[in-house]
Amino acid sequence: MKEIGIASAPGKVILGGEHSVVYGFPALVAAINLRAKVHATLLPDEGIEIIAPDLGIRQIYTYDEAFNVKEISINHATDNIAFAVYQLLEYLMKTGIHDTKRGVSIQVNSEIPISSGLGSSAAVAVASIGAISDLFDQELDKELISKLAFQGEIIAHGTPSGVDNTAAAFGGVMLFEKGNMQWLDQVQELPILICNTKVPRETKRLVSAVRERYKRHENLVGKILDTMGQVVREMMHGFDDKNILGELMEINQGLLASIGVSHETIEKICWIAKSNGALGAKLTGAGGGGCVIILPKDEENAQVIKGKLEKEGYDIFSTSLSIKGLLIGNGE
Ligand code: MEV
Repeated sequence: MKEIGIASAPGKVILGGEHSVVYGFPALVAAINLRAKVHATLLPDEGIEIIAPDLGIRQIYTYDEAFNVKEISINHATDNIAFAVYQLLEYLMKTGIHDTKRGVSIQVNSEIPISSGLGSSAAVAVASIGAISDLFDQELDKELISKLAFQGEIIAHGTPSGVDNTAAAFGGVMLFEKGNMQWLDQVQELPILICNTKVPRETKRLVSAVRERYKRHENLVGKILDTMGQVVREMMHGFDDKNILGELMEINQGLLASIGVSHETIEKICWIAKSNGALGAKLTGAGGGGCVIILPKDEENAQVIKGKLEKEGYDIFSTSLSIKGLLIGNGE
């Protein structure tokens, strides 16, 4: 047992296939260089404490509260983390590693904006589980960590596909389909801009709104989701030609708008980017606000687009895609 456990995990962008991935179609997902960092320590008594100084959050859960999080709601921002952490403690108890008489405190410092489509909840859950396993000197495999974090994602997002926790645990750029991952190497250098609409939204609500639309127009929406899957497959071959990739991003954005997950601000940002030379732009994640990803023509064009959007008051930054998923221990 250590005095302190440390871990970090990355956020992600979805290059194509959000929402359709919930229905089993493929998505292209990339971990990014924004990370959630967690320190874990032991509490004197039972319980789970979650501290997020940047958000002014300090929340304590009894084990019962953490376990029953589905029915109670103590704090939307931390309930899913408490649930995932409880799953881990239960696992450690079952395997005889910890008697759980002393609970854990986790301190979260995250660079990933929340409710913005960049997978912050999954990154925090994965990093929390990583930090606690570090505290107990346990080397859990990433598959298990991702699975435990997924339990928290169900609390946060209803019927998630698992892309966010998978990207946070494993990192890299991957084609994600029905829980299977295929990593892509040639995409690491893809320069992408991320623009935050600053319009908050809830993944759970958007995923269920799409489900309702699907129920009302099963045939039509089914075809749209299937087409999104085809767009993603074509994107896999579009990495050699950025013009094609940009066009495919635009097609994906149009399809996303047709299932009701775009937003006035998303459309405005896409329009500004496109009319200033971007090859493509689309929402990323659940939509309804959150972030837009933009594929610039080149570095010079990226600066032009950045300038225009900053002038409009948006936060915009360049991403580098991250090959590093969960990192355990000091230094990161
Ligand atoms: C994930 O960031 C966005 C959605 O595709 C939901 C999911 O995959 O769980 C909308």
